[in-house]
Amino acid sequence: MLHDPNRVYVFDTTLRDGEQVPGCQLTTPEKIEIARELEGLGVDIIEAGFPVSSPGDFQSVVEIAKAVNNPTVCALTRANKGDIDAAAEALKYAKRPRIHTGIGASDMHIKHKFNSTREEILERATEAVKYAKRFVEDVEFYAEDAGRADIEYLAKMVEAVIAAGATVVNIPDTNGYCLPDQYGSKIRFLKENVKNIDQAIISVHCHNDLGLATANSIAGLQNGARQIEGTINGIGERAGNTSIEEVVMILKTHQSMGLYTNINTKSFYELSRTISTQMRMPVQPNKAIVGSNAFAHSSGIHQDGFLKNRENYEIIRPEDVGFPSASIVLTARSGRHALKYHLDRLGHQLGKDELATVYQQFLILADSKLNINDDDLLGLVAYRLVKE
Ligand code: KIV
Ligand code: ZN
Repeated sequence: MLHDPNRVYVFDTTLRDGEQVPGCQLTTPEKIEIARELEGLGVDIIEAGFPVSSPGDFQSVVEIAKAVNNPTVCALTRANKGDIDAAAEALKYAKRPRIHTGIGASDMHIKHKFNSTREEILERATEAVKYAKRFVEDVEFYAEDAGRADIEYLAKMVEAVIAAGATVVNIPDTNGYCLPDQYGSKIRFLKENVKNIDQAIISVHCHNDLGLATANSIAGLQNGARQIEGTINGIGERAGNTSIEEVVMILKTHQSMGLYTNINTKSFYELSRTISTQMRMPVQPNKAIVGSNAFAHSSGIHQDGFLKNRENYEIIRPEDVGFPSASIVLTARSGRHALKYHLDRLGHQLGKDELATVYQQFLILADSKLNINDDDLLGLVAYRLVKE
């Protein structure tokens, strides 16, 4: 299939890798609701679950496959026939099914997880892809722990699974180990040294153990990957997965990279709240793109600059990610400009001297109270009138 070289496919694994977080398990109806919202967001692939893992997960994949029309629905397997049979069965109603199979690629995993050899693992990898191809055309292969794998061996594995029929090759940094330049170089090496690489899409799947998942995913895209895997709010095992909203907004903000996705970014905020509520997982206030403080300006210097021209302190418009609006928060660090902005908004246009007086009262109050609300401001104005 011919692909636009600048198009980045978005693979959402909120319902599989994201759902592995302890305490975040979802019911099938909850998963269906999220899958429909993901479809509305415009993701290209929904990884719906790991069907062999439990009857509940199997059923969720079946129901999600029935519920969505546009995205590819993907199911995870290990590299064995039983897992692949279960995935193929669970995907039978999918309009565009994909089997995501794979095995460990690092010597660490080969020796200490599979008690095996590189040759045997290579054989199992290609057999799994060939077997999955009996059921579906679209087979994604993951080379688990690729972040720590020997690059020559990884290249050999990638070449072999593409020859066996893999349409997408996923290069996970399973342990969130790599630095961005290391991860980017890995992708570049594969792009330049695997002779059949143009027959498949390279996918990046990064974990956030060192807080580098987004940076690594971007490095991968800059070096030739064209699918990004992640979750909404960056949820996932341990420190989580790449945040889809971060990668998508980076590509949108840095158009000079020349890459684009088909995501309706205006749906991000609502979907973030749905997932946070259903998974009982609060979003940290300073979370990029969707955190409650992501568009809140609180220090006097920033507020003044923002009120003069919002672009002084706003690189993304809140409305572009469906965020209600930017806010000027009043704290003891706020300046007169912010106070005037709020008083004007409440219908009190004060002269310079009056504003200076109210500002002094405001600072005293703000030193003793965390949040200054409209009632507080109206109280300050009323107090000034009483004193006059
Ligand atoms: O992190 C990882 O390696 C994974 C694979 C199963 C794709 O989640
Ligand atoms: Zn993962």
